[in-house]
Amino acid sequence: MPSCGPRSLPPNLDDLPSRRLDGATVALRADFNVPLTTGGEVADAARIERTRPTILHLALAGAKVAILSHLGRPGGREDPALTLEPVSRCLDDLLPVPVRFVPHSAGPEVEAAVAAMAGGSVLLLENTRFLAGETANDAELAAMWATWADHFVLDAFGTVHRAHASTAGLPRAVRAKGGTAVAGRLVEREVAVLAGALQDPLRPFVAVLGGAKISGKIDVIEALLPRVDALLVGGAMANTFLGAMGMETGASLVETDRTEVAARVLGAAGIRLVLPVDCVAAPVIAAGAPTRVVDRAEIGPGEVVGDIGPVTVQLFGEYLAEAATVVWNGPMGVFEVEDFAAGTVGVARAAAEAGDRGATVIVGGGDSAAAVREAGLASRMGHVSTGGGASLDLLAGRELPGLTALSSRRI
Ligand code: 3PG
Repeated sequence: MPSCGPRSLPPNLDDLPSRRLDGATVALRADFNVPLTTGGEVADAARIERTRPTILHLALAGAKVAILSHLGRPGGREDPALTLEPVSRCLDDLLPVPVRFVPHSAGPEVEAAVAAMAGGSVLLLENTRFLAGETANDAELAAMWATWADHFVLDAFGTVHRAHASTAGLPRAVRAKGGTAVAGRLVEREVAVLAGALQDPLRPFVAVLGGAKISGKIDVIEALLPRVDALLVGGAMANTFLGAMGMETGASLVETDRTEVAARVLGAAGIRLVLPVDCVAAPVIAAGAPTRVVDRAEIGPGEVVGDIGPVTVQLFGEYLAEAATVVWNGPMGVFEVEDFAAGTVGVARAAAEAGDRGATVIVGGGDSAAAVREAGLASRMGHVSTGGGASLDLLAGRELPGLTALSSRRI
């Protein structure tokens, strides 16, 4: 079974004294993989805003800050729809120093732009995934970036689970030439909060998992089960558990190849694993589709489950009302469609109320973070993670290649 045992904290900016930053060129890997509007503007700047403290720390210390990030999955080719230029404008608005955008991801143009930088200035390179070597963790690409980087700072928490050239190859290449590779403030906080909740949670510790599939989450479930007092499961992944219990799940999304593992988990979990007792079902998941609230034992053969039902929202709410630590990752239904959003919003409200009472509330990134922000509840959660897959991997105790590539703690 994967373990999420004590994770040592990564080295951070306090391990890289200001005197070593003054005049040095720092390659800062950020995660500016943000949603864009149809007009190509930044739709949600949360990830950009959360990197601001690290950029300011470096710039105020006199470093030349060259930022690398990916946006989307362009597959190693230039895609004008995925340029980081709009991100650069957004960043420029957020920072007291001007941000120069370099429309190249690597090569002589980048080297020239970096060579022209003054201490305290900031530039953003074009999308790293326009280069095929990025996701292949190409050593030559990492070495090319490292020619101009004296130090490396990782503030891309959302991408720490990827072994790519800019997250894993570059820090190693910078260290090989005598530089230091540390976590930025965002990564430092994300790891401290998530690992802290796992290692020493105030009890009761209640985890809520949702989303479409159990396949990517089975080891998260197995890692969390021995640590939590209750694990509440919603979203389509609950269907696979209901199917494993022999229940009719209609035309719902069910991972039939996972029913065996779901049955094993159910057997081992006992009463700590809590499944929905009712749901919102419809012939099809679409806006305006006729919906009905049904007991989980009464899902019709042609019906699709789109959300947890009101009794389940109340049941999950009762667990959350008692909790001292809450970790939530994944929506309870297809919350993008209003008719199937009530479960996710209900859980978000209950988590916010737990936060108001002083419970430690940690919301995993991706869809649940978006739902919390859309419901205007983000400020009432203790911590809304910027990482989706990354926070899940951390919770599951998987290796995070971006962290592994950093310098050792005492430098
Ligand atoms: C994310 O949004 O989860 C991160 O930016 C990672 O993106 P990826 O899943 O395309 O690697």
